[in-house]
Amino acid sequence: NPNRKFFVGGNFKMNGTVDMINSLISHLNNAKLDGRTEVVVAPPSIYLLQVKEKLTPPAQVAAQNCYTADSGAYTGEISPSQLQDANIEWVILGHSERRSMFGDTDKFVADKTKAAIANGLKVILCVGETQEEREKDITMEVNERQLEAVTKTIEEKDWDHIVLAYEPVWAIGTGLVASPQQAQEVHADLRQWLGKRVSQKVANSIRIIYGGSVNGKNCKELAQQPDIDGFLVGGASLKPEFVDICKSVD
Ligand code: G3P
Repeated sequence: NPNRKFFVGGNFKMNGTVDMINSLISHLNNAKLDGRTEVVVAPPSIYLLQVKEKLTPPAQVAAQNCYTADSGAYTGEISPSQLQDANIEWVILGHSERRSMFGDTDKFVADKTKAAIANGLKVILCVGETQEEREKDITMEVNERQLEAVTKTIEEKDWDHIVLAYEPVWAIGTGLVASPQQAQEVHADLRQWLGKRVSQKVANSIRIIYGGSVNGKNCKELAQQPDIDGFLVGGASLKPEFVDICKSVD
């Protein structure tokens, strides 16, 4: 859709070393991406500043998580204001790995989203159902429940700072990519839900990106779907083929 700039995020998760991340970033810099797609890379927090220094704009940097408070006795956490201070533009929130392994509830994700936006950050907000939930036919209920918590917590204007990532849990790291039709169906439903619950303006302008086993081969067909505005890439973002995914709409 020409009204929504294509967006590709690379979520390195807890992978990489100083050297490996330097070489991924120089590969990305050498690819001379033309700026038609917004590209954002999310390294583990210990490498954020290194990536910020080496990455050639307009590519941008994201943290993989943050807390709600500005500062204080929260050992191990990073605040949204610290990310802003370090000129890190984006943060991924609500990733299913954080929801399932680290206790991020819908409400906690919503509070983090609000705090991040209040500190000038942009948010890649992740939602998605498990295999079991899909089989029970409650895919949209689950995605709506996750989104509703955020909707209740932020204001309409805050949605301008959000990219919504639909990441079905069954497709993450499994090699089992959602079919273009399966992904398109949920993206369209999410957009319709936002139109009713938030506003038609937000529904028309928000980028809804797909995550889950995206690679250099399956990206083009997914990218052609009318409601798929980009990708959040895990495993393949650690490989040279990430550049091909960044070029999926070229
Ligand atoms: O956030 C990206 C993600 O969870 C998808 O991971 O490895 O299936 O591309 P992967």
